Amino acid sequence: MKKIAANALEKLFAAAKKDGIDLKAVSGFRSYATQKAIFERNASIKGAAVANKTSARPGQSEHQTGLSMDISSASVGYALEQSFGNTKEGKWLKANAPKYGFIIRYGKGQEKLTGYSYEPWHVRYVGVYIAGEITKQNLTLEQYLQKNQ
Ligand code: DAL
Ligand code: ZN
Repeated sequence: MKKIAANALEKLFAAAKKDGIDLKAVSGFRSYATQKAIFERNASIKGAAVANKTSARPGQSEHQTGLSMDISSASVGYALEQSFGNTKEGKWLKANAPKYGFIIRYGKGQEKLTGYSYEPWHVRYVGVYIAGEITKQNLTLEQYLQKNQ
């Protein structure tokens, strides 16, 4: 991850630990080649249409920026699945991520706006101020950028 995001993530994990919440970083920076392999694997298993909603095409993934992390917990076997959003860890992440500059990037009910299905595990670093605004106004990053261009 980029240093600014990595430092913020460390603070977030430390705060979680203090609250008795066990989080694990599952997938952070990915190269173009890694993202290509992930997308192609998904496409071969689920078909291109589903793969397009659940994984980004190589060159289009936030994971390639070093600003995103996929986070999970033991309660779902460290899987990246939507049920993570219902766990106490997933709820803690949603409630506390903005304090450390992260947003849940692909929210529930925002699928049409973000182009991706709900990913309660995927956080993106945008800085504390913007994360606060996006959360308060219940926006996607796309909407925030459009309003503030
Ligand atoms: N799962 C997200 C959209 C990605 O592949 O970047
Ligand atoms: Zn992700």
